[in-house]
Parts: sequence; structure tokens; C-alpha cells
Amino acid sequence: MTKSLMCHFHLYPGTPSYGLAPLHRLAVLVEGLGVRQLNQRVDETNWPEELRILADNFNRLLIRLDDAFSRMSRFSADIAHELRTPLQILRSEAETTLSRERSPDEYRQCLESGLDEYARLARMVDALLFLARSEQADTALDCKQLDLQTELQSVCHFFQAMADEQGISLRAAATGQLWADQGLVRRALANLVDNALRNTLQGGSVTLRAAIQASGNAEVRVSDSGCGIAPEDLPHITERFYTADRSRQRRGQGSGLGLAIVQSIMHLHGGTMTIASIPDQGTEVALHFPVMTGSAGQNTAV
Ligand SMILES: Nc1ncnc2c1ncn2[C@@H]1O[C@H](COP(=O)(O)OP(=O)(O)OP(=O)(O)O)[C@@H](O)[C@H]1O
Ligand SMILES: [Mg+2]
Repeated sequence: MTKSLMCHFHLYPGTPSYGLAPLHRLAVLVEGLGVRQLNQRVDETNWPEELRILADNFNRLLIRLDDAFSRMSRFSADIAHELRTPLQILRSEAETTLSRERSPDEYRQCLESGLDEYARLARMVDALLFLARSEQADTALDCKQLDLQTELQSVCHFFQAMADEQGISLRAAATGQLWADQGLVRRALANLVDNALRNTLQGGSVTLRAAIQASGNAEVRVSDSGCGIAPEDLPHITERFYTADRSRQRRGQGSGLGLAIVQSIMHLHGGTMTIASIPDQGTEVALHFPVMTGSAGQNTAV
């Protein structure tokens, strides 16, 4: 659209005829657009009725681009902020240790104390890379038929030792086959079970359920009897780097990227995630996988 308008403008320079004046204004606006001018809008006053849809659509495109660019720059600022503090701590620990001669034990202690933080930073960078890649338009899914009970069991098996250590019962019950990307489904489930275990106290329970509905959609639910999420946090917890205060007091602090990853995995499958939670009673996260039209396989109930 932009190109043809520009051509028109250059082929017929000078003052455009009255009927083409709006297109001329649009061409001038487009020519001056850059990342910093995305808050500009086409002034539709005096636009002929038949061209108004063009102005409306163009303004809506600008709003979407403006929003996407703002989110990207906030995200970059958040990344810088999240990385700066741990890097400063690691650096000052190393500087303090090197400020005078120390025993081999002290050097070892300094290296060991940084290990957890290095691991957390590595996980964060891995999560950020995953999110960046999953947003690329050409991200391909490697779908196959998955037995839901087997998938849920395998995630439970992975977390069993952690659940036992915390005195939490971890169970799975599922029927049916899901047509989806196995690696991504496991990653989404692992993030949800990790959250559930991290936010549930000793004696609590975490349950995974899955079934195929009559419509052919698959539904996977991860519920816990944990601390729950405050209503004011609920709309934000899928935002990148968002961590709620309630759970900050519980074991270990995460980066606030787990649910954003689950969300993007569901987008890749054309599905959705919904979260319901009652403070001090528990949380249930439901993943809805739709029937994939035109794909080689389908969700099946058995
Ligand atoms: N099952 C849950 N119960 C209570 N709070 C939860 C639960 N799941 C998520 N939350 C809240 O939502 C926030 C965001 O979760 P998310 O998984 O995105 O990040 P995280 O667990 O803090 O860090 P990461 O997953 O990157 O290690 C958590 O910090 C926690 O406050
Ligand atoms: Mg998490």
C-alpha cells in the first residue's frame, strides 16, 4: 500500500486535485514515519466516505505497531534491569575476594557461592531465547500423536522427588490422545507443575488432569491446593518478569518467565491458557488445545 501511494505522489508532484488530497496527506505521513513517529494518526476530517476505511485501517495498523514497539522496548528495559542486579552482585563478590590474598578454601567458597546465581542467569537467558524464537512468524511445530496419560505421568515422574521432599502429593489422571508438539507440551506442563509445587505447602496436593472434549478440543488442567494468587495479581501474572508478592515469600524466587512461556506455547498451538485462583485455597491452570484444522493428525478421546 505504502509503495503505490508513494508512486502516485512522485508521478504527479505538486498540489493534488481536491479528491486526491487525502491520499496526498497519507503519502506525506507515510514518508515521514519511523519508529519514533508511530504515535501519529491520519486526520480523517474531510475524507470522502469511500476512502475512510483506508484511513481507519491505517490508523489501526499504527496503533498495533505502536503497541508492539512499546512492549518491545519495555521488555528490553526489563531484561537489562533483571540482569544488572545479579551481575553486579557476582562482580562485587569476585572483587572483594580478589582484594587480598586468600586461602584455597576461601577461593572455592567464592566460586561455589556464585554457582546458583550463574545457573539462574543461564535459565533466564534460555527462557528469553525461547520466547524470542517462538515469536518468529516461521516457528514450526513438530506435532505428533501424544498419549496424554503418558505425557502427564512423565512430567510427574520428573517432579516426584521434589514433591516427596516437600511432602506434597502429586497425581495425574488422563485419557485420550493429543496432536501436539511433545517437547513444547512437556515444557508447558513442567512450568505449571514447578509453579504449583513452589506455591504449595507441606501436606498439600498437585493434580494433573487431561481429557478430550466432545468438540475434539483437548483440555489439560494443573491444579494445586497452594497459596493462590491475589485478584489484583491475576491479570498480570502472564506478563514477562511479573512475580506476585504472595509467592515471593515461598521457596526460591523465579524470574517471572514461566507462564509467559506457557502462554506462547499455547499460541503456537492455536490454543489458550486460563487461570483461576482463590487466595489460600489454590490455583487451577487450564490449557485448551483446539482441533488443528488441516493437520495430519487429530485429538482423539481414546
Ligand atoms: N500455582 C500458583 N500458585 C500461586 N502463585 C502462582 C502460581 N503460578 C504462578 N504464580 C504466581 O505467578 C507468578 C508468575 O509465574 P511464572 O511461572 O511466570 O514466574 P516464576 O515462577 O516466578 O518464575 P520462573 O517460572 O521464570 O522460574 C509467580 O511468581 C507467582 O507469584
Ligand atoms: Mg514459574
